[in-house]
Amino acid sequence: MSDLPHVLVIGCGSIGERHLRCFLNTGRCRAAVCDTNGRLVAEVAARYGVNGYDSLEAASVFPATAWVICTPAHTHLALTRRGLEAGMNVLIEKPLATGLDGVAAVRAAMAAHPACHVAVAYVFHAMPWLQEMRRALLSGDFGRPRHASLVAGQHFPTFRPAYRDIYYARHESGGGAIQDALTHSVNAMEWLLGPTTRVYCDAAHQVLEGVEVEDTVNIAARHGGVLASYCYNQFQAPNELELRVHAERGSLAMEVHRQRWGWMRHGDADWTWQPTPAERDDLFTWQAGAFLDGCAGLPSPLASFEDGVQTLKFNLAALESVRTGRPVEIA
Ligand SMILES: NC(=O)c1ccc[n+]([C@@H]2O[C@H](COP(=O)([O-])OP(=O)(O)OC[C@H]3O[C@@H](n4cnc5c(N)ncnc54)[C@H](O)[C@@H]3O)[C@@H](O)[C@H]2O)c1
Repeated sequence: MSDLPHVLVIGCGSIGERHLRCFLNTGRCRAAVCDTNGRLVAEVAARYGVNGYDSLEAASVFPATAWVICTPAHTHLALTRRGLEAGMNVLIEKPLATGLDGVAAVRAAMAAHPACHVAVAYVFHAMPWLQEMRRALLSGDFGRPRHASLVAGQHFPTFRPAYRDIYYARHESGGGAIQDALTHSVNAMEWLLGPTTRVYCDAAHQVLEGVEVEDTVNIAARHGGVLASYCYNQFQAPNELELRVHAERGSLAMEVHRQRWGWMRHGDADWTWQPTPAERDDLFTWQAGAFLDGCAGLPSPLASFEDGVQTLKFNLAALESVRTGRPVEIA
């Protein structure tokens, strides 16, 4: 057996296969896959020349040191707890969960296994554009952030034709635009500005055929002293995501679809842009490397378990605000 970390990817559907490929791309680990769908796991394992197992019991012969949890959101916390109790480092796909039940039990398991590294796979943390924008914002050069906006969307059926038949179709399994898609941007904004403290959300099912969950969202939020707005839909033609932060002495922006970040200070005639080309797999490979760094006790930019809990509270507050028609405070 090699000394390299041994990573077991649990759930090898859409994102699990990508994690498997990108962990292997790092060249820093061995990997195997586990999925309760025996046909799927056999196919994926054969495609990458790794071992595949159709249950965690069967996977126990693989000497895992880390689990990457890529199952639907309502299963994440129970699997995380089980992994920690088996001494695993754990990378958990977003969103962390669909409710707060189980959070306390994971915290207790983390306290009992302090050597285990836990991170949440909000992949925006691996984006060079967001990392640079955050560094500039935290340097203080631009003054205090005061106002921020997220404007984004894509034609979801183009990117996920099976959306009707997967977890996306139901809130209970982590579906809908708020829990599934917008959550990446909310977590990114919280990384820049700090936790959301208040959420006022309007959302509706507008277009996507075959589902009833919301595909369109407008949110007015507060991150402490910063006013923020979120505008998102899953049926528009352009696949675009633009995040802007306006601070006392200038503005900062990230444009994912143009793979760049930039700034404009008061007095500047135009934006200064910094492009960094990256394929989608590059982001997941950098994320995998950052997780392996964390497992080795090195600094890692990935979202922590508590960051995931905070963004989960946002999701729950947004859904409650839609139901009640009122703003919801987040403690
Ligand atoms: N970071 C991203 O960009 C990104 C993209 C897509 C999905 N996701 C997230 O990843 C998670 C999975 O999404 P997906 O699109 O891959 O879903 P998917 O439906 O394609 O795959 C999920 C897989 O998990 C398997 N599974 C379910 N319960 C299991 C269990 N107890 N043990 C083993 N296998 C089990 C299913 O058989 C299925 O193959 C969700 O939380 C989703 O929000 C993240």
